[in-house]
Amino acid sequence: MLLSWYFLLQILWFVFLELLSSVLALDNGLALTPPMGWLTWERFRCIIDCKKYPQECISESLIKRTTDIMEKEGYLAAGYNYIAVDDCWLEKKRDANKRMVADRQRFPSGIKALADYVHGKGLKFGIYQDYGTKTCAGYPGVLGYEEIDVKTFAEWEVDYIKLDGCNVDTSQFDTGYPAFGKLLNETGRPILYSCSWPAYQDNPNYTSIAKNCNLWRNYRDIQDSWTSVKNIMQWFAKNQDELVKYAGPGHWNDPDMLIIGNFGLSLDQARVQMAVWSILAAPLLMSVDLATIRPEFKEVLLNEDIIAVDQDPLGKQGLRVWNGSDCEIWNRELGDGSYAIAFVNLREDGAPFTLQASFDNMKIPKQIYKVKDLYKDEKNVLCDLKDKFETRINPTGLY
Ligand SMILES: *[C@@H]1O[C@H](CO)[C@@H](O)[C@H](O)[C@H]1NC(C)=O
Ligand SMILES: *[C@@H]1O[C@H](CO)[C@@H](O)[C@H](O)[C@H]1NC(C)=O
Ligand SMILES: *[C@@H]1O[C@H](CO)[C@@H](O)[C@H](O)[C@H]1NC(C)=O
Repeated sequence: MLLSWYFLLQILWFVFLELLSSVLALDNGLALTPPMGWLTWERFRCIIDCKKYPQECISESLIKRTTDIMEKEGYLAAGYNYIAVDDCWLEKKRDANKRMVADRQRFPSGIKALADYVHGKGLKFGIYQDYGTKTCAGYPGVLGYEEIDVKTFAEWEVDYIKLDGCNVDTSQFDTGYPAFGKLLNETGRPILYSCSWPAYQDNPNYTSIAKNCNLWRNYRDIQDSWTSVKNIMQWFAKNQDELVKYAGPGHWNDPDMLIIGNFGLSLDQARVQMAVWSILAAPLLMSVDLATIRPEFKEVLLNEDIIAVDQDPLGKQGLRVWNGSDCEIWNRELGDGSYAIAFVNLREDGAPFTLQASFDNMKIPKQIYKVKDLYKDEKNVLCDLKDKFETRINPTGLY
């Protein structure tokens, strides 16, 4: 097991805020804070056999059921307002007018009706496509049909498009993704634009990506394991000096979905993902069966204090500011002058590890702080932190 201690260190004294980043951003008025919602992919992948797996297949009933739960059980109220279907929603062939067709068995009412249903519950509707000849799972892609497809999405009243990058020469992305974004803009409908552009390139042009996309997948797909979460954390830490420059209101790095509540993470590991993703100003896109999620995982996803860190209006992506002894400290500066700090223990040896963190380790000014534990394991405390902070963190019980 691994326990992350996640504290908000609130400065009582006034500090100057850094100026907002000056990266040119996509000007569609969307994603001023990182998008929040639910996506099918990680949990439901490409399950298409609705006879065998009626509760899990990619279908309008899965989307409707999840929409209902999001609306009724507090997810929408907590900020999770997008619901999106990922790959495997299409028929294998376009219709006579070359338009995309949703799978007739699994989406019998069609996408427009489904979007209407989602809108009726106060959520926004997202859908997946791919800037190639085929999607990653082999369904028809947009390449060669960009205009007609964007028009179709606008007619269906789609609010969010995730555009993947399989089955195409990735050198086309530098012009292709912006061109597709221009078409989206020309519909006049504000459509959140999620790009997979950098995830497929060795030296992505983030200046252009941040100018053309609201969010972008930087790295590999997340999988249902602690190893995967840890790999993504390490990759973001390693590349953080470059990446943070491009994050800000309207444009975000995307370390991929939250896998909280599925099969691979312990509760403590789930808390780590939620905390570190929020420090990274990451989109919070759940991918879990909300009908069967265990209450302790639901509680992590609905933790309003941690969501508030993620959604901080300053929009400054945080950093891994220290690592040593197989532990890490992550820090995000917030708009009100406070800091969100996560202490993560990656050790697997046994017995909680006592971590002494100096103000230098935490990269915060020497001040008196009011400390609030956002997971509420400890009572809120007002401590006079002289020059270090001590915490005990459980080791991870890795598979
Ligand atoms: C289209 O782009 C223009 C210029 O950047 C912007 O002002 C406008 O809000 C955009 N419209 C939509 C629907 O994205
Ligand atoms: C990256 O994109 C920007 C903005 O589109 C462009 O000005 C710049 O030349 C590009 N950089 C490279 C190395 O291609
Ligand atoms: C910090 O992490 C990096 C990998 O991200 C590793 O190479 C380095 O050895 C670590 N430093 C310490 C002091 O553990």
